[in-house]
Amino acid sequence: MSSRTSDVLVIGGGIIGLVTAWRAAQRGLATAVVDPEPGGGAARVAAGMLAAVTELHYGEETLLGLNLASARRYPQFAAELTELTGHDLGYRRCGTLAVALDADDRAHLRELHALQQRCGLESQWLSGRECRRLEPMLAPGVRGGLRVDGDHQIDPRRLAAALVVACERSGVVFHRVRAERLDVAGGRATGVTTADGAALGAGQVVLAAGSLSGRLAGVPKEVLPPVRPVKGEVLRLAVPPRYAPFLSRTVRAVVRGGQLYLVPRENGELVVGATSEELGWDTTVTAGGVYELLRDAHELVPGITELPLTETRAGLRPGSPDNAPLLGPSALAGLLLATGHYRNGVLLTPVTGDVLAHALVTGELPDEARPFTPRRFGAAPMEQLEQPV
Ligand code: GLY
Repeated sequence: MSSRTSDVLVIGGGIIGLVTAWRAAQRGLATAVVDPEPGGGAARVAAGMLAAVTELHYGEETLLGLNLASARRYPQFAAELTELTGHDLGYRRCGTLAVALDADDRAHLRELHALQQRCGLESQWLSGRECRRLEPMLAPGVRGGLRVDGDHQIDPRRLAAALVVACERSGVVFHRVRAERLDVAGGRATGVTTADGAALGAGQVVLAAGSLSGRLAGVPKEVLPPVRPVKGEVLRLAVPPRYAPFLSRTVRAVVRGGQLYLVPRENGELVVGATSEELGWDTTVTAGGVYELLRDAHELVPGITELPLTETRAGLRPGSPDNAPLLGPSALAGLLLATGHYRNGVLLTPVTGDVLAHALVTGELPDEARPFTPRRFGAAPMEQLEQPV
């Protein structure tokens, strides 16, 4: 028997769970979040690029539509959140420059440019000299680049903190404890049992536990989302005032096949990411990961070695089989999913909140989100997912 009930119970207080809870509460639903540390999760590590255009990949054109829909919502979303909470989100409409360091990178970037043009996206090819005119700290060897003025950034830590406050102001109840298992009765999700043995009942449950979404006990096998952790190591440096502005926009490149990006914040923080490794739930920061990021960043922007290194961290992206999120009703009545956002969690935050609120109120996905129904995947047997240590 459930001891406490709500209309909606969201499992996971990362940015995806929080935005879902906030938007649900705004629709008049009595909403609760269960998470030992709301505002934590992958957003503690993420750089916060809003990179629908520069992170476009072949075969991900459907995802592009959702990414662009969310990018369009960002100005209004950020303004609403700031007005409600008074928090500065570090939302910076600075654009992005993707550069090439050698002939292979240049060919890769040319192909990306052609794909962007086929998709009707705005990006401009620049020579190496034009790139360095925009960003004088770039290495002299830069061979060319793509200027994308529509790919911006936000500070995910500030975003998460503001979403916690927005939830509180909107009446969302926080249960600061771990959800141990999903409760199911009569073929329907009815709530969760927490690590301290409490039963939290709900009319509808949203599983938004990031990379952990695929391992919640009690979720029937055929409903368990096929989400896996993809490790990313990220560095933070500080730009002393005498070096400012070190970079004036996000700068990124593919170096030796890996994605490298440098995200300069207005407050002087410079975020450098990211490795991408499939190592289960390991979040160790390794000497090798830090070395690779610094080596590649130094090749791109040699002056980076002068900057104080202030933080190293690793987080887990919630990867899905097609790199796109799982949004909306699952095959189990009463259970909705908001997970599998992989590389685009920060970008997809506004649209996820709107889509999930719509689904919670109407039982249906809005048209723009239909391709992302969790039902596009069959069963994901537990044994296929590596268990945490
Ligand atoms: N979107 C950046 C990353 O996943 O590393």
